[in-house]
Amino acid sequence: MNTLIVYCHPSKKSYTFQVFERLKAVLQKQNLNFEVSDLYEMNFQSDMSETEYEREGFIKTELPIPQDVLAEHAKIERADCIIFLYPVWWSDCPAKLKGWFDRVYSVGYAYGQNDLFPKMKTLKLGLIICTAGHPNAFLNETGIAQSMQNIMLNDRLGKRFEQKEMLILGGTLELEKVIGHHMQQIEEIITKIKELS
Ligand SMILES: Cc1cc2nc3c(=O)[nH]c(=O)nc-3n(C[C@H](O)[C@H](O)[C@H](O)COP(=O)(O)O)c2cc1C
Repeated sequence: MNTLIVYCHPSKKSYTFQVFERLKAVLQKQNLNFEVSDLYEMNFQSDMSETEYEREGFIKTELPIPQDVLAEHAKIERADCIIFLYPVWWSDCPAKLKGWFDRVYSVGYAYGQNDLFPKMKTLKLGLIICTAGHPNAFLNETGIAQSMQNIMLNDRLGKRFEQKEMLILGGTLELEKVIGHHMQQIEEIITKIKELS
C-alpha cells in the first residue's frame, strides 16, 4: 500500500507542518511506504497557462501536458492512497492546492467529456486532513464543514477513490485545548491505511 501525501503549507513554523511531521512519523512507525508532493517546497505552479486552459476548455487532448503535471500523474499511478493535508483558508484549501486540482486533473486523465474516458487509476483510499482556526462545532453549526466535505469528497475525490474520509482538525486558535485529540485522530485515521494494506 503506497501513500502519496499532497502537502500544502508555506511555513515550517505552522501547526499544519507539525501535523505533517506527525503524519510521516506514524506512517513510518506502521512500516507504510509514502512519497510526498510538498507543493510550496516544489514551487508547484498553480495557475493554468493559456495552452493548458485550451486543452481543458476545448478538450484539445492533442495539446501537450506539462512535465510537472505528468510527474504528478506518475505519483498518483504509484499510489493506492492519497492524503491531502492543508490549512483551511477562507473555507477552502489554499489556492496552490486548488491549482493542483485545476492542473493535475487533466481532461482525458482525471475526467472525460464526450467520448473521452478518464485514464486515472481508481485509488483505494482518499483522505483529506485539514487544520482550521474555528472549532469543529462552529464549522458544523454554520454548515461550512458540510460544504467543505461536499466539495472535497464528492467533487474533487469523487469516484476516483473507493473509500474517502475527511478529518477537520478544528479549533487551532486555542491549540492547547485540541492538540492532544488531534494527534490521537491522526493515529486513528492512519489505521485505515493499515487495514487496507
Ligand atoms: C489566509 C487565512 C485564511 C483563513 N481562513 C480560515 C477559515 O476560513 N476558517 C477557519 O476555520 N480558519 C481559517 N484560518 C485559520 C487557519 O485555518 C489556521 O491558522 C490553520 O488551520 C492552523 O494554523 P497554521 O497556519 O499554523 O497551520 C485562516 C488562516 C489564514 C492565514
